[in-house]
Amino acid sequence: MRRIRMPGDKSVTQRALIFASLASGESRLRGLLPGEDPQATARALRDLGVDIPPLVGNGTEVRIQGVGLRGLHEPHDVLDFENSGTGARLMLGVLAGQPMTVTVTGDASLRVRPMRRVTTPLSKMGAVFREMDGPDRLPLEVTGGPLDAIDYDSPVASAQVKSAVLLAGLVGGAFVFVSEPHRSRDHTERMLSTCGVPVISHEVDGLWKVELRDPPERIAPLNLEIPGDFSSSAFFLALAILGGMEGGLEIDHVGMNPTRRGLLDVLNRMGAKVGADPFDEDGGEPVSSLRALPSKLVATKVGADEVPAMIDEFPVMAILAARAEGVTSITGASELRLKESDRIKALAENLRAVGVKAEELSDGLEIEGGDHPLVGRVSSHNDHRIAMAFGVLGALKGNQIDIDGADVADVSFPNFWGLLEDLART
Ligand code: S3P
Repeated sequence: MRRIRMPGDKSVTQRALIFASLASGESRLRGLLPGEDPQATARALRDLGVDIPPLVGNGTEVRIQGVGLRGLHEPHDVLDFENSGTGARLMLGVLAGQPMTVTVTGDASLRVRPMRRVTTPLSKMGAVFREMDGPDRLPLEVTGGPLDAIDYDSPVASAQVKSAVLLAGLVGGAFVFVSEPHRSRDHTERMLSTCGVPVISHEVDGLWKVELRDPPERIAPLNLEIPGDFSSSAFFLALAILGGMEGGLEIDHVGMNPTRRGLLDVLNRMGAKVGADPFDEDGGEPVSSLRALPSKLVATKVGADEVPAMIDEFPVMAILAARAEGVTSITGASELRLKESDRIKALAENLRAVGVKAEELSDGLEIEGGDHPLVGRVSSHNDHRIAMAFGVLGALKGNQIDIDGADVADVSFPNFWGLLEDLART
């Protein structure tokens, strides 16, 4: 049994950088993810006047002196969040509550992702946005200030939307009531509580509602160990389950937030031998060790209810389905078309390119599994999780897959390829 640890959780790292910057006092953060996405957010926060030391990945503590909820300074230049949807959308929420005008942009992939899902509620709160290159897209110029209360029903289950509105309420001093059709990841709510801000979350009439009443004047600094990223772990769980390495695998200190670990239920249903230790609590997030053993998989069905808690796991799910007996169907997942790539299209194209029968549905995929050798060339579509999923598939015995643009894995998982080479059977 090989034991490994994962890099820090990307979502928690992004939020820890933002909350530490807005806190009153010094935050101490260990295990931050030094991937390209958090690096872009850290650079933007530096441009806004926060002194953030280099993000290092070896567990070294990073100390950040917060500037307070309304202490950011107008930057000299455009803020570029590169590939990071979370960085851009959450920071649009923060900037909505700051009395200054800032331009926000991203790389070519981020500039084709929808932004009105956050600018619509933030405009209702009183922030002003100017779309500089067409509707619903970055770059955006945002002029913020004190904001009005909002009671917003989000049409999509999106943690980025929910978090942008909560952060706007926090910084702009406004009451927030936000609901979503299914519960999305709740790292923001947990971190608000850790910083001493009470948030109420509950189900009402089938919707998930989050309330931020009485936004405070200041928030407490953080002292956190960031959990390992469940989404990064999923690639190596898949490698072990599909027999791509010698024996089994144990991954320590993985974030087990119930709004993130939905893949485990699906894996159990498919017959995968996966298990977790009893959970500990670290910095407001549940953590545990995960284990996986080589297993024979059967196909399954994944529908809309299961999508939010495994929203980032469909690339790895697709390669598990490609090696399972039977036809796996994924539906109710049209949000996948709006990720770092159109993941429905990218997965269908790539699976077919290596010899897997895969059908693109408007809101999902049908994938016929098998055990014949898979050979061919695929594209990462400039999407870190597509690159890593096909990296794992290509590392299985008998398969030979070349990936164009594989370097993009650095967005969330520096040294993914080194670890894969180390663990995979040759
Ligand atoms: C994230 C939320 C999810 C997820 C993304 C990270 C976050 O996006 O896909 O990788 O950290 O809030 P949506 O909010 O668009 O579902």
